[in-house]
Amino acid sequence: MTATRQRANPVTQRLRASSPKSVICQEEAAKVMAVEIVGTVHITSPVYVESVSGSRITDVDGKEYIDLTMGFGPHVLGHRPAAVEKALADQITRGWHWGIHNPLQHRLGEMLVEAAPCGEQVVFCNTGTEATMYAIRAARSFTGKSVVAVFDGSYHGVHDYALLEAERSSDRHSPVPRRRGAGIPSEILETVTMLPYNDEAAFDLIRANADRLAVVLVEPVQSSNPRTDVGPWLRRLGEVCREAGVLLMVDEVITGFRLAYGGGQEYFDVHADLATYGKALGGGMPIGAVAGRADVMSVFNAGNGRARPIFSGGTFSGNPLTMAAGIAALTQMRDTPDLYPRLNALGDRLAEGVNRHARRYGMPVTMMNAGSMFHLRFAEGQIRSSRDITNRYVEAEHIFYQHLQERGVLVPGIHLAFVSAAHTEADVDAVIEAATASLDSLRNDGMI
Ligand SMILES: Cc1ncc(COP(=O)(O)O)c(C=O)c1O
Repeated sequence: MTATRQRANPVTQRLRASSPKSVICQEEAAKVMAVEIVGTVHITSPVYVESVSGSRITDVDGKEYIDLTMGFGPHVLGHRPAAVEKALADQITRGWHWGIHNPLQHRLGEMLVEAAPCGEQVVFCNTGTEATMYAIRAARSFTGKSVVAVFDGSYHGVHDYALLEAERSSDRHSPVPRRRGAGIPSEILETVTMLPYNDEAAFDLIRANADRLAVVLVEPVQSSNPRTDVGPWLRRLGEVCREAGVLLMVDEVITGFRLAYGGGQEYFDVHADLATYGKALGGGMPIGAVAGRADVMSVFNAGNGRARPIFSGGTFSGNPLTMAAGIAALTQMRDTPDLYPRLNALGDRLAEGVNRHARRYGMPVTMMNAGSMFHLRFAEGQIRSSRDITNRYVEAEHIFYQHLQERGVLVPGIHLAFVSAAHTEADVDAVIEAATASLDSLRNDGMI
């Protein structure tokens, strides 16, 4: 939908009129920023944050929202949990960046090894993107093979090897990858292959390509279609990779410390060789990490007799502020026994509440969720993978999020949303009420 058409919508106009300071921020940002961090174009009425607390965000116009953004996932415990805030404040008095080693690194490393089912050794970096990039490099070095497989509908960050999507016209059982966006060399396509998600056809493709495949990358739960019915398929994927001599890398950047303390590997009982982390591991500070089998991880180490270790490094990797926040957050997550049952129940309650309403009125929407992460998908019928989601309702989808925002609920422009330990059942019920009323508005306007 064009910006002009969106702006003509009454809800867009009302939101802009009630957010004068955010509108000014957007105009000022457009002058200096080539692109904003998130596609705020998807939230046509701009929102710029002033402060946060628990489950709430307050914007620069003084409006408070129930926040379902949760920093794009890291804030499993909600905004500004006291233990993390204190750890950060204490650390700041000792310094926040040193470059050379600090003891907090191996303390967080030990916690990650304890939590990550496949983790015997770890390497820290600063983002999930770096983590998947390093895992790919490690897998290529360890196996001596060069091709990397990603799944249709996946997301593994913004480096060239991960920015792929399926040609929509290609067969859903043997998707053909294309580069996602400009500026990625076509040669990349010779080093990657794409597999169908949640589809047994992937197993034959892995076997057929075993000689050249170094590693298969999989999110235990894809952001594009969050679900928990993929356990048997994921376990079979692990077996097929093992039999074929191909490494399996589970991308836990979102699911790590969110679905369960041991992430998707624990939740689905899937066995991997490598796993990548980010988001929640840093307690809300920038972080990435690779964890994996000791023999695979040994490729990072120059001191293990290897002629050529892989190159790794990063000015801010393992910085004490991030390490301190991560230790405080993980300690609280690990030591709160009902955290994950409660989080997952909150997510299920939200999805069930919205889906009940949608079913009752025959609306073409499904609130997909895996525990506390969810994504409202506009599509008719069953969604087996991202291939079942078309852009037929894209206009309705954009306007839906504006109705939600007007009713005091904020979902990020990427539309993958989260509840946290700071959300209450009453918050979730308020979100259900806002979401169902917003869907009714779309229906009354003939958009769905
Ligand atoms: C599964 C997955 N992997 C990797 C990334 C990239 O992480 P980052 O944004 O920290 O680079 C993301 C980001 O959302 C993700 O969802």
